[in-house]
Amino acid sequence: VIMNTPSTILIADDDAQARVMVMAVLAHEGHQLLEAENGAEALRCALDRLPDLVLLDVIMPEADGFEVCRRIREHPRTREIPILLITSLDDRESRVRGLSVGADGFITKPFDNAELLAQVRTITRLNRYRRLVSEQERFQRLIRLSPEGIAIIDGESRFLLANPAMAVLLDADDADELIGQSLLAYVQPVMVDRYRGGLKTIDDVAQASVRMELVLQTRRGRSIPVEISIGRFDDQNGAYAQVIVHDITERKRAEAQIQRQVSQLSSLHAIGVAITSSLQLDATLAVLLDRLIEQLRVDAASVLLYNQRSQMLELAAHRGFGSGQLEITLVRSDEGLAGNVFHTHRSVSAPDFRTRQPLSRRDQQLADAFASYFAVPLRARGEIRGVLEIMQRTILVPDEYWWVFLEALSIQAAIAIDTAAIFEQLQSTHAELKHSYDATIEGWSRALDLRDHDTEGHSERVTDLTVRLVQHMKAPIGDLEDIRRGALLHDIGKMGVPDSVLLKPGPLDADEWKIMRQHPVHAFRWLAQIPFLKTALAIPYAHHELFDGSGYPRGLRGDEIPLAARIFTVVDVWDALRSTRPYRDAWSEEQARAYLQSFAGRYFDPVVVAAFLEMMERMRKA
Ligand code: C2E
Ligand code: SIN
Ligand code: SIN
Ligand code: FE
Repeated sequence: VIMNTPSTILIADDDAQARVMVMAVLAHEGHQLLEAENGAEALRCALDRLPDLVLLDVIMPEADGFEVCRRIREHPRTREIPILLITSLDDRESRVRGLSVGADGFITKPFDNAELLAQVRTITRLNRYRRLVSEQERFQRLIRLSPEGIAIIDGESRFLLANPAMAVLLDADDADELIGQSLLAYVQPVMVDRYRGGLKTIDDVAQASVRMELVLQTRRGRSIPVEISIGRFDDQNGAYAQVIVHDITERKRAEAQIQRQVSQLSSLHAIGVAITSSLQLDATLAVLLDRLIEQLRVDAASVLLYNQRSQMLELAAHRGFGSGQLEITLVRSDEGLAGNVFHTHRSVSAPDFRTRQPLSRRDQQLADAFASYFAVPLRARGEIRGVLEIMQRTILVPDEYWWVFLEALSIQAAIAIDTAAIFEQLQSTHAELKHSYDATIEGWSRALDLRDHDTEGHSERVTDLTVRLVQHMKAPIGDLEDIRRGALLHDIGKMGVPDSVLLKPGPLDADEWKIMRQHPVHAFRWLAQIPFLKTALAIPYAHHELFDGSGYPRGLRGDEIPLAARIFTVVDVWDALRSTRPYRDAWSEEQARAYLQSFAGRYFDPVVVAAFLEMMERMRKA
């Protein structure tokens, strides 16, 4: 390719006729010819176009040939450009001066066509050769130093060339050792079909290159997951392919880690659900008392629970009391009729409450309101858990059936209480579990930041700002906890994006964008598996949707985009623009603000942008 590149030649002469003559001589050489009619123009043109050769007339207005030559030699970009000075045959002085300012040779006026042509040919050829060598050197250096394994293989997958990184990857002593061996021998046997299939696509489908994930097996038996790109090229000797092998061990490890964490979190959560759904002791007791009052046709009932720590009976549920009749909610476990039941494990029946003397303070209070009092112990698994009390405003003499039903209810209540006691212990475990999965989420998010941005902090910053903005807007969004988790995990899907794309220093090409646009979909797939994160999916799944419907992955528009995601997007873009990325430097605050404003209503929810900028303004002043 380089050999056939035509040269660019600049001809600087104030004499238009002289220029025409030179051009006529060079016309059939296939060069690109540039003209300048004075020294200043010649210099400008040389800097702009970086010609391969400059022909300079010595005597020119603005700046003479010596001056231009000197300046071209001075400038680092033009320093190497060959220069021929156009002098008259007998002008020895000019020649000496020309050499001193760095001219490479001379052309004499009047022109001898053959001499001119010969000079130009020699120089441009030399030039091309020099360029070729230096390009080749640069290229070889690049290949030698590349951290990726690079090789050229023939139609049989035999190594014709390999770089040192390839040798390291395959545990070979050096690159030469690989020459002649087949790459196929290093592909894990179960992957051979995939490898062959990949090669076939560039053979048959005339596709230029193919990229696949494989596992290689080194000489020493190490297995290395790799991403391998193979590009085919042909020359007169047959078909070859250039192979680039990228070690993706780290990425695979991260993915496996995620899958493991996902399944751990799911099972932790299953326990959590069981616990919380059984924790409604209050509700259970309330239902129980309702049923009791209805069935036994009494006026009031209550449940006192024994608290081991305080050694007191505590009022846990009640029905049918008037105001002022329940001032005492704690009862010493050895006090009054309830205390008596607790200690003796035996029921108390007082159809005519008031005649019992003396009464404890609480009993007296109850006796002021009720005529009859009954109490039964609540026992489960041999232990007394509390006391069930029943009261009636009129004197009540219960029959046998009444007592049987009361007994059944008391057993049910005791079981509910017992279960709850177990669950209470579990509940503190549950709180720890919850803490542990929040810690896990934060860990994920930090790990991701490190890979994506080389610095921690992006996810926490955007999470913090998003929560503030939700509060600032008083946005009707269910659970702030979901917002927090969703924001922390917004880019979790980037775990599925290869380094070569995520960390690319330049803009992404079409294929790479296709991969990048998958990151919200990965997030959806992973997080939907975790029940307690399902409700936090809005942000990870929809944070790249845009207000006008031009976003991804679903192309939602306006209100179709969950409010949480509309809010988050503004914060995320703000923070992304304000940060340095592998593909560009950080933007200033003004630039970022102007960007959000100019795309409010198009990309971003205008209400959110306005609220965000107002909030930032306020925070700046505060
Ligand atoms: P990110 O770098 O964290 O950027 C998040 C979002 O902020 C981008 O979503 C985009 O809406 C906004 N943003 C970030 N930088 C710029 C910018 O320089 N100009 C403008 N106008 N907006 C910007 P988007 O575009 O969907 O990109 C998602 C992710 O894709 C980015 O996250 C980044 O990881 C990657 N990406 C985007 N463009 C490039 C690129 O040119 N080269 C590379 N290597 N990665 C890119
Ligand atoms: C020319 O550019 O060829 C004539 C004008 C000048 O000598 O500066
Ligand atoms: C981030 O890199 O954390 C934000 C970029 C995105 O939203 O894709
Ligand atoms: Fe994202």
